[in-house]
Amino acid sequence: MPIIWDSKLDTGIDVIDHQHKRIVDYINDLEIAKLKGDKKMVTDVIEQLIDYTQSHFGFEESMMEEAGYKFVKPHKKVHELFIKRVTEFTMRAAKGEDIADELHSMLAKWLINHIASEDRDYADIVKNMVGAETAHHEVSVAKVEARSGFISGLLGRFFR
Ligand SMILES: [Fe+2]
Repeated sequence: MPIIWDSKLDTGIDVIDHQHKRIVDYINDLEIAKLKGDKKMVTDVIEQLIDYTQSHFGFEESMMEEAGYKFVKPHKKVHELFIKRVTEFTMRAAKGEDIADELHSMLAKWLINHIASEDRDYADIVKNMVGAETAHHEVSVAKVEARSGFISGLLGRFFR
């Protein structure tokens, strides 16, 4: 079953919600590749998903730091543990094991839960930093970028 974006996944920070939606797209692509039985596509999607998620984590961590979010350390630790877990999967895959099903359900559970809980926790303080005076998510990426050169600088640093 593909993951359908739900408003409870919104952080209200457009630039972050956009990245989270892209991660969800990758998880759904992995399911499609799996159902097709297309091994090359499975490998490619996993690679892209990991690469993108790592960039996203880096972006998110710098943003939390800049905003003075007090739980940035434990949040970083959670990201680290996740990357470790995913690396274990890729090592098993490199040995020829078929990990697609297991990895897909881990990603669907872990990332969705992370977005819905831990990531929502930094939302308010980051919104204050970027100058979004409302708790709404109507602030467009363009506006956020205009208000904070910091965000656009970060985008350039973490995403090619
Ligand atoms: Fe996170």
